[in-house]
Amino acid sequence: DKGGHKHFMAKEIAEQPTVLGEAIRNYLSSDGTAISLPGDALDFTKINRLTMVACGTAFYACLTAKYWFEQLANMPVEVDVASEFRYREPPVTEGTVALFVSQSGETADTLAALRYCEGKADKILSVVNVPESSIARESDIAFPILAGTEIGVASTKAFTCQLTVLLLLALEAAKQRGTLDDARFAELLKNLSALPGLVNIALDGEPQMAAAARKLAEARDILFLGRGVMYPLALEGALKLKEISYIHAEAYASGELKHGPIALIDKHVPVVVLAPRDSLFDKTVSNMQEVMARAGKVLLVSDRAGLDEGGDGTWLTLQMPSVDPVLSPILYAVPAQLLAYHTAIAKGTDVDQPRNLAKSVTVE
Ligand code: F6R
Repeated sequence: DKGGHKHFMAKEIAEQPTVLGEAIRNYLSSDGTAISLPGDALDFTKINRLTMVACGTAFYACLTAKYWFEQLANMPVEVDVASEFRYREPPVTEGTVALFVSQSGETADTLAALRYCEGKADKILSVVNVPESSIARESDIAFPILAGTEIGVASTKAFTCQLTVLLLLALEAAKQRGTLDDARFAELLKNLSALPGLVNIALDGEPQMAAAARKLAEARDILFLGRGVMYPLALEGALKLKEISYIHAEAYASGELKHGPIALIDKHVPVVVLAPRDSLFDKTVSNMQEVMARAGKVLLVSDRAGLDEGGDGTWLTLQMPSVDPVLSPILYAVPAQLLAYHTAIAKGTDVDQPRNLAKSVTVE
């Protein structure tokens, strides 16, 4: 049942305020001031290293979480794609906790990576959507993302719910490790509880995103740029776009532009810049200027302050509500998803069943 939407993907994008709200409530105490995790107590102060492993979109959720665990909890983190991790057979040193992220909980490479860590890691954790899946069953603690069934092959609500649960884990780690002051911890929980409302406001921007997507649909190649915690979201935006619209898209950390990809820029290549006005915004503005100086077409996705400061000379802009910078990847997932969705619609491709892809990759 598509609930009145044309595609499961559209329905699942629209469901995000609801499922995010449920996920957040599930992990917070009833007064919203403390985090309560399922399963055995987890002592984050004893963790020397967190190793996160996943594939595809779930891998990008892990890459985002690396910024959170490092910045909020001062925790050393390693992130790898499962197919590389399992065959590289890396040493799993003392005090390592391994965390596997998977919507289906059945991805062959992720499951094999988990089994590789059995008996080597101090603990095996997973962040999954399907609680009875193999990955959930074989973990010491499985954290459900509570996204509900996801049918569209391109992952949307599972991604934002994965991010939310990973952020809650990073916040709990920060609390236990004493790396975040109480006021900031309380503020982040409050802002997280308000996030579903902001996601709703972002969804109201769909007509503008659809209009921008109709222009993106004319391109042969599209670049995505992001900096800091927005870099993994740029990767996710490019993946989403290529999966369902079949337009070649690549993402780079904004600061990498001048180390190669800038050679691709000309008037035919749109560059989608995902950049809330955060502490790194000035640097991103200079990256955009480098693109525009080469006739590149910049689509800037930012908040009011960012568009005021960096919007001059851009090709297109999309305005997002302003948000706590820590939470921005979750909110900015909405334009990343809707740009991909409406570009695919403009191209007439099969959004829910893109060619060559399967929802669950149980063979390597
Ligand atoms: C992209 C997508 C895939 C999956 C990947 C991992 O939209 O859906 O990249 O994220 O195949 O799948 P799970 O999360 O089921 O392990």
